[in-house]
Amino acid sequence: MADTLLDYETEAAHYDETRGGVPRAEAAAGAVLRLLPPGARTLLDLACGTGLVTERIAGTGLRVLGADAAHAMLRTAAGRLPGRVVRADARRLPFPDASLDAVCAVWLLHLVPYTGEIVAEAARVLRPGGVLAVTVDKDAAHDVGSDIDALLRPHRSAAAAHDLAGRGGARAAAHGLAPAGATAFTGHGQGATPRGTARRLRAGHYASWFRGDAVTTDTLAGALAALPDQDRPRADPEYRLVAHAKPVP
Ligand SMILES: C[S@@+](CC[C@H](N)C(=O)[O-])C[C@H]1O[C@@H](n2cnc3c(N)ncnc32)[C@H](O)[C@@H]1O
Repeated sequence: MADTLLDYETEAAHYDETRGGVPRAEAAAGAVLRLLPPGARTLLDLACGTGLVTERIAGTGLRVLGADAAHAMLRTAAGRLPGRVVRADARRLPFPDASLDAVCAVWLLHLVPYTGEIVAEAARVLRPGGVLAVTVDKDAAHDVGSDIDALLRPHRSAAAAHDLAGRGGARAAAHGLAPAGATAFTGHGQGATPRGTARRLRAGHYASWFRGDAVTTDTLAGALAALPDQDRPRADPEYRLVAHAKPVP
């Protein structure tokens, strides 16, 4: 986790404008809202980051809280949602058992190797009937059908190993959660470029699913560098969000 957090401590300053800004945040917030259980009044945005998505969910009248582990991200979030964000690791939340109607996590699970612990903790804080809504298969959503995708896809065998989709919901089921719907949202401004993808590959940003050695990395980065239009973003991705509900006894 240290590397992940280090990235976000330094990325906070330019996170919003490099991740699709308000259009992406509005699309993500809309997707979360579509998956909420009827009558939901409280929601925790897990790994709320700068709070750009959280703020949009909060604009609907729900009581919305945010939690994130990175100081710098949280500072921005605190400006947007004063008194409603807390610094916390997603595996140890400072909320009582069965105290929330919904928990969402946008763009968290693909980053970490301990999805099971996060799901268990979310299941603990959800009330019976409550819903956990998470993005899945984030990296695999990129550039579907593009020339970049054609190069990366063969290396994505373990792509979803860390998120809920990767185990067909088994991780959620293991913590007593049952499938409760799915939706998608457009990652505005998130279309990848060949140059950026090669840079991210070399920098280890795809470590959660790319297991290639140094030679494979070089070969793949070389193939990306040979693609045309090095700085032209490919199509905006469609990200998947799935919901799992805590059964009512
Ligand atoms: C890709 S950002 C997503 C932020 C926000 N959900 C959004 O969509 O704009 C990932 C966030 O996860 C946070 N994070 C990573 N590991 C975490 C953990 N174990 N507990 C809490 N937050 C974590 C990072 O600090 C970062 O803010």
